[in-house]
Amino acid sequence: MISPYGGTLVNLLVDDARANEMKATAKDYASVTLDERTLCDLELLAGGGYSPLKSFLGQKDYECVVAEGRLADGTLWPIPLVFPVAPGNGIEVGKPLALRDVYGNLLAFLHVEEIYACDKDREAQGVFNTTDPKHPSVAYLTKQPSHYASGRLEVIRVPPHYDFVELRQTPAELRERFEKLGWDKIAAFHASAPLHRADEELANRAAKEIGAGLLIHPVVGVTKPGDIDHYTRVRCYRALVDSDFEPGSVVLSLLPFATRMGGPREALLHAIIRRNFGCTHLIVGPNHADDSFYGPHEAQEAIRKHKDELGVKLIDAKPLVFLPEENRYIPIDTVPTGAKTASLSESQVRDDYLAKGLKLPEWFTAPAVAAILSETSPPRFRQGLTIWFTGLSGSGKSTIAHALVERLAEYGRNVAFLDGDEIRTHLSKGLSFSKEDRDTNINRVGYVAGLINAAGGTTICSVISPFRATRDNARKGSKGNFVEVFVDTPIEECEKRDVKGLYAKARAAVAEGKGIGFTGIDDPYEAPLNPEVTIDTSKLNVQQSADAIIARLLELGYIQRHGHSPA
Ligand code: ADX
Repeated sequence: MISPYGGTLVNLLVDDARANEMKATAKDYASVTLDERTLCDLELLAGGGYSPLKSFLGQKDYECVVAEGRLADGTLWPIPLVFPVAPGNGIEVGKPLALRDVYGNLLAFLHVEEIYACDKDREAQGVFNTTDPKHPSVAYLTKQPSHYASGRLEVIRVPPHYDFVELRQTPAELRERFEKLGWDKIAAFHASAPLHRADEELANRAAKEIGAGLLIHPVVGVTKPGDIDHYTRVRCYRALVDSDFEPGSVVLSLLPFATRMGGPREALLHAIIRRNFGCTHLIVGPNHADDSFYGPHEAQEAIRKHKDELGVKLIDAKPLVFLPEENRYIPIDTVPTGAKTASLSESQVRDDYLAKGLKLPEWFTAPAVAAILSETSPPRFRQGLTIWFTGLSGSGKSTIAHALVERLAEYGRNVAFLDGDEIRTHLSKGLSFSKEDRDTNINRVGYVAGLINAAGGTTICSVISPFRATRDNARKGSKGNFVEVFVDTPIEECEKRDVKGLYAKARAAVAEGKGIGFTGIDDPYEAPLNPEVTIDTSKLNVQQSADAIIARLLELGYIQRHGHSPA
């Protein structure tokens, strides 16, 4: 089907007879398992989302795209769509490659006609304007093999999706939908984060202003590291469309695209994709597809400049700000001088509202969206937590930890207690006190704590854990929900207590010239640099020590005062 907009669509899907032939012969060819990004690219190539491209780029096209943002024949094409391979093992010119997903599903044949070396630095500089590995796409590029394959592509099926199936449309399906709706102008809104009121207003106004229907077209392939997962986002978009938009004024459809964070070049690709999906306009605000590597308006300028070639016009969206006294949003460049404005940053939303279990204000987020966000980002007092006691043998770690287990139960945190001695008779049976074995022991404890943490549980770990790097590793494993309690009792006091008689043994061994590698005597202890809590049990009793930790956990929001519900 050809829509009034966007021209002919590529379709790479083969018919059933050919699909059966391909399935029967696939085992004779080398297989490649596609990563998430390439799966997205294959899906868009197959259904014409990347029209006029019919396959991954060959060398000539690749070089022109990197250098000038055009295919060798001059067609505007901003981002190299390539197929990285390590040649050999059946990956060679003249042979088909069987492309599969991680489950082994056969998706396509790439009839390899060319394998060529890429120039990663040149590509990164040309396309992303930087070779800085902090740029997510530069980092991705560095990890890929340094050859690309290209050739004719035959697609059996697009990667199967089982989530939100009713919201997934091919370019042809979306065009048909717009025709049925009788829309002759369609404004696409590209989204990779949940829509707050300001985004919703902005998209709505942009479409209304030009009399267009609105397509909310969120990316559900690969987004920026740290973005909210697509399940949550799509639930939010769906709830918003149902609760806030006039019926018939908006279409919500998911775009299986892998974000490159490529600023102006990527914005051009977004526009090309939207043209193929039947849109006439793309709504673009400042810092579109950017990870702070480009000027704020470069994306808009790129689309404006190339609108004729793109077949899609720019809607230059001015960010909106809220005027609390007038209870409305207005474009940022029309705010009267001296007017009071209100806004929240993403980190405020996360840390000041969701983490504390507070309701997002209605002026900022539609209640239907806020409800989903607060359900999927539970407040800190309902998130997983690892409390890690470190300190010398006899410093009092396990005694306080034990008291803390009981205190935490009062706050509704039921704890898995991983105690050093217990661990060494179960999880780490047979391990010695060599540096290597201690690392292994501590890493095991950290790993288990991380798993429990991820599932929303609380773990208290009590291990000497004398090495800073290994403790920091445990912190990473718990994704930051980690409270390090440094039991900093002076060694003289620990030695005086000598509950297990081990200090005396260690001293005697050292006197005989055959040390046993006892922490603090003849083995090092690396004190934490920034522990959340420091306790000296020669100064505080057990009750006071537990109180100090409870006070800190309250302050950090990991527990909530009795009887108080979030305001
Ligand atoms: S860790 O370094 O791997 O974290 P861990 O907490 O498991 O040490 O140590 C458990 C207990 O083993 C200590 O509390 C102590 O009683 C006993 N122990 C036996 N030998 C040693 C040693 N050489 N150094 C330290 N502790 C030891």
